[in-house]
Amino acid sequence: MKILSFDEFILNSGISVPSFDEFKKLGDMTALFEREKNDFIQLNYERGPLLYAIISMLKPKNILEIGRARGYSTLSMAWALSDNNPSGRIFTIDPISIEKSSKLLLDDHTTQGSRYENSSIQKIWSKIAKKDWIEKIIPLTGFSGEIMQKTPFPEINFAYIDGAHFYSAVKHDFYSVLNNVGEDFGILLDDYVDRPQYGIKQLVDEQIDKHFDTSLIQTDRQNHLKNMLSLKDQNYGMVYFHSNSLKMPLKEIYTHNERTKAIMDYLKFEDRQRRRTLINDKVPFLKNIKFRFWE
Ligand SMILES: C[S@@+](CC[C@H](N)C(=O)[O-])C[C@H]1O[C@@H](n2cnc3c(N)ncnc32)[C@H](O)[C@@H]1O
Repeated sequence: MKILSFDEFILNSGISVPSFDEFKKLGDMTALFEREKNDFIQLNYERGPLLYAIISMLKPKNILEIGRARGYSTLSMAWALSDNNPSGRIFTIDPISIEKSSKLLLDDHTTQGSRYENSSIQKIWSKIAKKDWIEKIIPLTGFSGEIMQKTPFPEINFAYIDGAHFYSAVKHDFYSVLNNVGEDFGILLDDYVDRPQYGIKQLVDEQIDKHFDTSLIQTDRQNHLKNMLSLKDQNYGMVYFHSNSLKMPLKEIYTHNERTKAIMDYLKFEDRQRRRTLINDKVPFLKNIKFRFWE
């Protein structure tokens, strides 16, 4: 695996990326992170310009994003599409609907500062994103397992995998993306980090790195994660690879049986989780015994 700093990756891409301050404005409305009570940080905002550079390089027709949250990454990709590839579109999956109202953390750079406001992701987007960015986005509401099963996707040319982070979920997301790609595709995974309950590193180390030329991009320039979690392994970040580095045909490496098994293993889990959510909604006190699904 090649290890690159964020600045090296951007420089090597040859893409002229809008200023980081512009991404900060977008991030402050969609990705601000509360480290401790009333202590807000701009955690890994570098993913915005990184996605902008990758999308501008690849000019993908169809993008699939698993894990949208409040849409910082989605809007950064839509921005790049709008600047480079007007016909491209983004299918973006998350169990949280963009229409749902809830308390959202934001900072609109007014005197009010960082705060929680009752709003929906859709309303926030309409304030900060151009109309033609939003028109490129196709939000799909649900867990990746169910959405990937029931949606007839066109051939995907780029995927950003950033949904549930535990091993069987990331493995599912990777294999179900593979079921929807053609010959030419790029994939970016967030959170390659040695951290309990995070399975991205295991998946990349065991099943991706030997088949593709992978790049680990160190995007956390301010070392927020390292300082927050006292990480021992400094090599963490986002992992990018492209099909043009494949060493064997995709179908020979990841066999039909192997893909089906990975997908079915996770689907069983997701089904249990869905039933649990239904019970929680009916018997709210049980929520206290839930575990955190998306870590
Ligand atoms: C780390 S956040 C995504 C951040 C976003 N991609 C960005 O870069 O700004 C992870 C998101 O994954 C969503 N998620 C959790 N489990 C999921 C699943 N099984 N399928 C799709 N999304 C999932 C969560 O609701 C959460 O919004």
